[in-house]
Amino acid sequence: MPKKITSLKHTTDKRAHIPSIEEAGYEDANEKVAEGKKVLELPKNPVVHRGQDPELFWLNKYGNDDRDDLLKVDIRSLYRHEHIAPEALIKNLYKLTETKSDQISLFTVNEMFGNALDKDEIDKVSEYYQHQDGWTNRLIQGDSHLVMASLLEREGMAGQVQTIFMDPPYGIKYGGNWQIKLNNRDVKDGSDEALTGEPEQIKAFRYTWELGIHSYLSYLRDRLLVAKELLTESGSCFVQISDENVHLVRSVMDEVFGSENFCSQIIYKKTSGSSSTLLGVISDFILWYAKDKTKIKFRQLYIPKEIGGEGTLEYNNVELSDRTIRKATLEELSDTSILPEGSRIFVADPIVSDGQGKLSEQVITFIEEGKSYTIDCGPKRHWKTTPLGMQKLWDINRLLRKEGLRIYKRYFEDFPYMPYNSMWTDTRGETKMAYVVQTANKVIERCILMTTDPGDLVLDPTCGSGTTAFVAEQWGRRWITIDTSRIALNIAKQRIMTAVFPYYKLYDENQSDIRQGFIYKTVPHITLKSLANDEPPATETLYDQPEVDKKLLRVSGPFTVETLQNYEPINPEDLDNEIREAEEEGAFEEVIKQHLISAGIKNGRKNEMVVFRSVELLAGEALHAEGFYQTAKGEEKAYFHIGPKFGTVSKKLVSDAIKECRHRGDANWLVILGFSFESDISGSTQTTSMGNFEVTKCRIHDDLLQEGLKKKPAKSAASFVTIGEPDIELLPVIARNEAISSKNHFVQVEIKGLDIYDPIKDIVKPRDVHDIAYWMVDDDYDGSNFVVKQVFFCGGDKSEFDKWKKGLDNLAKENTKKKVEKTLKIEIDDEAFDRLYGHISHPIEIKKKGQKIAVRIISQFGEESTKVMGV
Ligand SMILES: C[S@@+](CC[C@H](N)C(=O)[O-])C[C@H]1O[C@@H](n2cnc3c(N)ncnc32)[C@H](O)[C@@H]1O
Repeated sequence: MPKKITSLKHTTDKRAHIPSIEEAGYEDANEKVAEGKKVLELPKNPVVHRGQDPELFWLNKYGNDDRDDLLKVDIRSLYRHEHIAPEALIKNLYKLTETKSDQISLFTVNEMFGNALDKDEIDKVSEYYQHQDGWTNRLIQGDSHLVMASLLEREGMAGQVQTIFMDPPYGIKYGGNWQIKLNNRDVKDGSDEALTGEPEQIKAFRYTWELGIHSYLSYLRDRLLVAKELLTESGSCFVQISDENVHLVRSVMDEVFGSENFCSQIIYKKTSGSSSTLLGVISDFILWYAKDKTKIKFRQLYIPKEIGGEGTLEYNNVELSDRTIRKATLEELSDTSILPEGSRIFVADPIVSDGQGKLSEQVITFIEEGKSYTIDCGPKRHWKTTPLGMQKLWDINRLLRKEGLRIYKRYFEDFPYMPYNSMWTDTRGETKMAYVVQTANKVIERCILMTTDPGDLVLDPTCGSGTTAFVAEQWGRRWITIDTSRIALNIAKQRIMTAVFPYYKLYDENQSDIRQGFIYKTVPHITLKSLANDEPPATETLYDQPEVDKKLLRVSGPFTVETLQNYEPINPEDLDNEIREAEEEGAFEEVIKQHLISAGIKNGRKNEMVVFRSVELLAGEALHAEGFYQTAKGEEKAYFHIGPKFGTVSKKLVSDAIKECRHRGDANWLVILGFSFESDISGSTQTTSMGNFEVTKCRIHDDLLQEGLKKKPAKSAASFVTIGEPDIELLPVIARNEAISSKNHFVQVEIKGLDIYDPIKDIVKPRDVHDIAYWMVDDDYDGSNFVVKQVFFCGGDKSEFDKWKKGLDNLAKENTKKKVEKTLKIEIDDEAFDRLYGHISHPIEIKKKGQKIAVRIISQFGEESTKVMGV
């Protein structure tokens, strides 16, 4: 059965089997897994050319006392959060003659994601890393430093990455430029409204910019040091940067990689015009270093040349069909169609090279039609080929009939291509951007195509909107991409999930081993040498021009969304910082206390306000304060857990607080305060009854996190807001088509609303479905792996996703036209497509007792809430 929609899989590659968030559970899996090293240590300046090469110095380069040569990074674990196989998602959008249940059952977690084993086979989290899974690409949320250290040490990925592309903040706008909503790119640098509410972002930001450019350079150096360890011996690292700091970053890269491994400083055009009182800036830079330049993998890419275009200035002679030779006119060069038929444009190249040749071969004479031509290469030079070869060139009319040394005729069509150089003028910023600082695809594509082959692994520790992942996916490379920002990762996730690519024909006939590459276009390269030696011309491979199979359409292969649990980027060496932070936390708790007293807690769902008569701080680890409030039944007591100032409240912290509250047994309410909460599938409701007391998760207003960064002081109208759980209903399906009217039972999920906290307006918008960016359904949730089976982009721009439909539509038409497939009639299900922008899911078949449906909703602010329902 011919396949219509497909994706590229990496069947021969493996990755470490890491636990899912659900499997890691409440326990600190990090401790359980960490049987080996807990800290990664690397020399801060591995090249140490001190005394030979000049060295760049900046504040705190070697720690506070300028003597610490070792970089130390905490080693954490990563957790699987979601499994996404776009190929399976797309099947929902077709009308199929077979029942949908058959289609969907094709994709079990194991088949899609190549998990080597069942979760029942593993009973200890520490055993996870000892097993391997089939490869899936990875979108990881967390600080790049900690994530890369985890890949390196916990997963043993040293030497596995072929290319790293890094596009860090350029180190110029210290005011921060964050995109705080998925659907709004309007970011004003330095404005209060544009300040992020993501604690990890604020923390990363404060650390990166603490000392301005000085801490920025340490930030970059630290990440490059770990990144370099991940690179394979033939690997490359690219860093994108603007002209303000390119010189400093290059010096840092010299220190990390060694100046001998510098490959190129690529200048690429980002815009066509820019106003300035001096020279306008229209380009950015890409610094390219090899892990070891002597072993680098490099695929030469070529640009097609056009007569009169770039790189063809010297092609100004024309040979007419009767062999007459003359200069081409400007008109002819700008429009070759006016040349007389049979004309050939050429350049007259030297026929000699420098260096003494054989004295006896210095002078050569050719005789033609009774006329003799004598040429003398002179001393310290030699002919580019042997005397025999020279005669051959003469005989086939490759040498001009004149006495001189510039007589080799290189025709334009000998090889109408030129290799790329370090100046890229055909690149521009993306015209349709999804992210405020998106790189043009073409720029990253070129870096990847030059330095990798299909199947190679590409890493981007600065994911943003996922351009590197997108391009790597298009070109059949494996990828890992990392970002601290949920907004960025959610944009990237949607972009990859809905991407449609041409299908490149694989070299391997069985279409299974991508490592053998694609079938590429090749072109002959006629050279002086091949002509003189009477050999067939060399063949050049155009690595950016694979053959396309138009009958097939490709979507992204399966990928996992992962997260670094318990984000807390403290360098173990940074004791000073820890002390300072402990002090900060103390001060922070005091601030929270004052706000609890003055502002109370607003209950978003009912819009009620809880006012506290008194609040006192406690010394405990799990419970940080207690307070008394009035209810209809009289005065009651609440305990507060105050989450980290710069972190996510983990499930472990919540569970510890619950245990302690139960142990004390004297309160009716436990309030967990935090800026963000780890996604918690098992106890998904925001307010949960624990028998004697209720537990409520409560969002602290961003103002308290952003203290000192905002220009205007916080209003603190509502510092603490409880967020209700999503209002979701299961609807029975009314039979409308054949598949559904079978004896089986179907339901649909309806999102009725979600209380979404809007930090800009400081309100909880009750039950407003429009603030949902997108939502996903796992229709048969197994309790430990959220596998996305359906996705709906209700808050998206419909036109952005229409190309998805268009691609699928075209393919359907093409197949109908060609009558390729009779049994599997491919037809777009318009109704299903319309559902994509709504709040009601596709029909879900109820196949077994106890089947669970998990629904995950992502707000425009990147916040997530998940609910699991039994049917
Ligand atoms: C300039 S953007 C990258 C844009 C990307 N090239 C694209 O095409 O969309 C830099 C990204 O790095 C992320 N970032 C900054 N510091 C980070 C850190 N320490 N760890 C992980 N990501 C970080 C930011 O959140 C931002 O999304």
